[in-house]
Amino acid sequence: MPPVTRRFLATAALSLLLGLSLGLWLLVRRELFGIWPTPHLTSAHAHLVLVGTVMQVIAGVALWMFPLPRRGTPVVREPPWAMIGWWCLAPGTLLRAGAEVARATSAATALPVLVVGGGALQVLGMVAVVLALRHRIRPAGAGARATL
Ligand code: HEM
Repeated sequence: MPPVTRRFLATAALSLLLGLSLGLWLLVRRELFGIWPTPHLTSAHAHLVLVGTVMQVIAGVALWMFPLPRRGTPVVREPPWAMIGWWCLAPGTLLRAGAEVARATSAATALPVLVVGGGALQVLGMVAVVLALRHRIRPAGAGARATL
């Protein structure tokens, strides 16, 4: 498994833990104390689970399992677009979720900027992952799987 895949899977596990913990907290407050989650809290939970976990697992496994680039293309341990993807997607998702949770209790003017900044990083991260995979979308059997 390539190092960048391990990075994606590690941050996916962290996001899952945070997302499910937040979901449980929201459920307890709603059902036992009658406090309905604000849209910001629901968004933080949903994006931790769906982008932080589902998308990062898909990205990490695709970067590992998709056919290698054509013969002659140098194989690098940490492909630049994949690394850019991780550096945008993982911190972007955590930044956005953290700022959305803080928005639920604080009116600090920096928070909306942080939420938008985190969301923009998520977009850039997904674009970078697609760019990292662009030469690897081709018929199976055309090359071995990544063995880094
Ligand atoms: C992989 C697992 C999960 C996924 C993909 C997921 C996804 C979502 C999504 C998309 C929403 C927004 C729904 C909406 O507002 O219309 C949501 C809301 C919510 N989720 Fe999850 N969730 C997951 C697991 C959990 C777990 C395990 C809990 C609690 C133990 C939980 C508790 C909640 C609560 C309390 C809300 C807010 C619902 C409301 O508006 O009152 N979720 N979830």
